[in-house]
Amino acid sequence: MKIKSLSNLISINLVACLLCFSSLYAQQKLSQVTQSPHLKKTGKVTRLIVNGKPFLSLAGEVHNSSTSSLEYMEAIWPKLVRMNLNTILAPVSWELHEPSEGKFDFTLVDGLIKKARENKMKIIFLWFGSWKNMVSTYVPAWVKNDPARFPLYASQTGKKFQMLSAISKENTNADAKAFAALMKHIKQVDASEQTVIMMQVQNEVGTSGGQRDSSKIALDAYKNKVPEKLMTYLQKNKSTLIPEFAQVWAINGYKTTGTWQEIFGEGAAGNEIFMAYYLANFVGEVIKAGKAEYDIPMFVNASVGRQDGKIGTYPSGGPVPFVMDVWRAGAPQLDMLCPDIYVANFTEWLERYKQSGNPLYIPETRAGELGAVNAIKAFCNYDAIGFSPFGIESVVEDSANGPMTQTYTIIKQLAPMILTKEGKKQMIAVSVDTGKTHETVSLGKYLLDFELRRGRQPTNNNPGLGYALLIETNPNEFIAVGKNINIQFSTLNKQGQLTGILAADQGTIKQGVFIPSRRLNGDEIMDSYDFSNLVDAGKSGNGLKFVERLGVQRVKLYQY
Ligand code: DGJ
Repeated sequence: MKIKSLSNLISINLVACLLCFSSLYAQQKLSQVTQSPHLKKTGKVTRLIVNGKPFLSLAGEVHNSSTSSLEYMEAIWPKLVRMNLNTILAPVSWELHEPSEGKFDFTLVDGLIKKARENKMKIIFLWFGSWKNMVSTYVPAWVKNDPARFPLYASQTGKKFQMLSAISKENTNADAKAFAALMKHIKQVDASEQTVIMMQVQNEVGTSGGQRDSSKIALDAYKNKVPEKLMTYLQKNKSTLIPEFAQVWAINGYKTTGTWQEIFGEGAAGNEIFMAYYLANFVGEVIKAGKAEYDIPMFVNASVGRQDGKIGTYPSGGPVPFVMDVWRAGAPQLDMLCPDIYVANFTEWLERYKQSGNPLYIPETRAGELGAVNAIKAFCNYDAIGFSPFGIESVVEDSANGPMTQTYTIIKQLAPMILTKEGKKQMIAVSVDTGKTHETVSLGKYLLDFELRRGRQPTNNNPGLGYALLIETNPNEFIAVGKNINIQFSTLNKQGQLTGILAADQGTIKQGVFIPSRRLNGDEIMDSYDFSNLVDAGKSGNGLKFVERLGVQRVKLYQY
């Protein structure tokens, strides 16, 4: 009897322990999963974590006025779904959010969150607060009508611009309060679901013509000493400052104290640094107030200009690479500085924005065939967190054949694989066109020769562009995605054996796993039979071939 009760006691305790462990485990799991969206850096790679998992944002930004009406948006959601987006970038305007001071209206925000959930999409809200493309047209009427309380920017000749002054504390506080109320509400309605994953704070801020604010408060600030916040940051980070910025500081003797003019000189560069600091400081205060309510990643976006990058040809003082350090100093709570890239040299801008460990998100760019190429390069070559063509609802592609749609569809399925390969030099994206029909790169132990599909002359359906991305899944195996391109493989060691295709399969990707559908051989892998010349060039004549539709293939290689 005694023995029985002892064993009962043991089993009761065991069950209690198990329950206790499992509830602790469940709690730990829950807290992992419910940690709000955040950025996580592992080695050199920064990932966006949503619902506890890394997330690649395949996004599109709607036009500026679309989200001011839930009815207007009705026709847009289905198109975003057809294009296979997983994120929408959606403006929230201050004028509709706080129509009278202290009275907030969350109808639009709630309606957008509801529709995003119904459509299985995440949202990045764009806070169109004090500035949108330099000007202050999105501020509420009670701000517009009270310039005595909310001072405006003034030109050197004293002319008032339709822009709030970044130097005014009253302006800063009003924006910060409105933004904090927005974040508080988002936390209430969305913290457990995590439909809202990031916030863009303001939109393409800066001033035109390379000038600086010459309102009374701005002139006073300009005559004062450069704030310690900036000087301390510069001294602490002197060895890693953006070179062209460090040069301006160097020319003026690396002074550690003095007025703006003494430290950064007079003229366009000095003006830009002054404006960047005050804009960053303002945005930093807004972000601080917002994060105090709900701490999710927050970024700013910059117009990088459509010309040659000369100061004065883009909004000066915005978060462009030249003043990246000034922004980091002025807005330490800021998570990312992001480029809006409408210019041709897309990847050069990615390089510039990757400086100083800045994570990459491209909130505005073009769609189309070039957009598709840029997207795969951003994700595979630059470990981008997200990519978002602007005006997505009017992108002229509304079928499964559209280049952005095809690319997003495949990247969505490939994302688990891409996310594990980031920062490991095990994937590459390449494009060729009628101007440059060949490209050779190395990946793992192989040399990859890419060639524009022969006979591809540009037409409306085919702009003469070929592209591919390859992921090394083991040392002799790759998953390849491509369009209008041929790929040949050889080993890096040219004196060694030749490389042939052991097996190639066409297929699809489902949640990071390749599903073969058709074995490829013969005409589908033979690129050339000219063996006498091929052998001397270290080639087998075998290769992968991709035609008009973006396709997926798996190739296993061998040496002979
Ligand atoms: C850049 C802005 O940030 C967007 O809001 C939009 O106005 C586009 N330009 C239009 O091209």
